[in-house]
Amino acid sequence: MTVTPLGIPRRLLEFTIDGEVARVPEGSTILDACRAAGKDVPTLCEGDTLRPKNACRVCVVEVEGARTLVPACSRKAEPGMVVRSGGERVRHSRRIVLELLASSVDLSTTPRVAGWLKEYEAKPDRFGPAAARLDEEPRVDNDLYVRDYGKCILCYKCVDACGDQWQNSFAISVAGRGFGARIAVEHDAPLTDSACVYCGNCVEVCPTGALSPKREFDMRAAGTWDESRQTETTTVCAYCGVGCTLTLHVQDNEIVGVTSPHDNPVTHGNLCIKGRFGYQHVQNRG
Ligand code: SF4
Ligand code: SF4
Ligand code: FES
Repeated sequence: MTVTPLGIPRRLLEFTIDGEVARVPEGSTILDACRAAGKDVPTLCEGDTLRPKNACRVCVVEVEGARTLVPACSRKAEPGMVVRSGGERVRHSRRIVLELLASSVDLSTTPRVAGWLKEYEAKPDRFGPAAARLDEEPRVDNDLYVRDYGKCILCYKCVDACGDQWQNSFAISVAGRGFGARIAVEHDAPLTDSACVYCGNCVEVCPTGALSPKREFDMRAAGTWDESRQTETTTVCAYCGVGCTLTLHVQDNEIVGVTSPHDNPVTHGNLCIKGRFGYQHVQNRG
């Protein structure tokens, strides 16, 4: 008999979102409630496997009585709250956040951002050609993943995944200040001279493609990466007895990437170097 562990029953809280009554379990965030109510709140630094970082502020909503807009991803829902998820104040704030990000980094591989720029009528060009921009060459210093910091929005998700929230390798951190701030390994060395163990758990949480598997990076550069032609197959990693759940991303009968489901109770989306990157032997047909 399969026993499904039930979570501790939680009291339902009642409040209103955009004039409609919302009921969510105690401990839920405003974002959880908005999503349950079918509201499309944009997010970038929020991660379903990470603690909220409050770094990007693109998810802000209005809470009656609050002096400032609040980040929906981290603010817990409270009984009686009156939330407005999309008024002009909210739209204005999201527009500016999107304009500042899009004018300073390359968001071309950030899912959904093109739609949000349109929806919020953001005009990243309005700062003019002299606006500071992070134009950096991608750092290709190993065979497994690429760091393209010209796409980095400094959301800190990679740092948290590498640190105490998952991997505990602490290989990366933020170096520098202001516009000079960068995610870096110690002494800004190549990855090969760092404490990185190439688990790729940072790559998994990166929302912009600033970190990407080398295979994907190469295929994008060659114009052959095509998610519409990819299928996903769930299997179990055979490298060790932990037996992590793997999702194989296959294009043209070749594995082009490996991930793990974020809701898997063992991996929570994380893998080690072997599970994530060690698949070449499967398709070595030579
Ligand atoms: S691959 Fe793993 S160890 Fe290396 S920086 Fe990313 S999370 Fe840290
Ligand atoms: S590399 Fe990716 S995950 Fe890390 S801070 Fe930059 S955008 Fe966020
Ligand atoms: S998604 Fe909420 S602050 Fe970034």
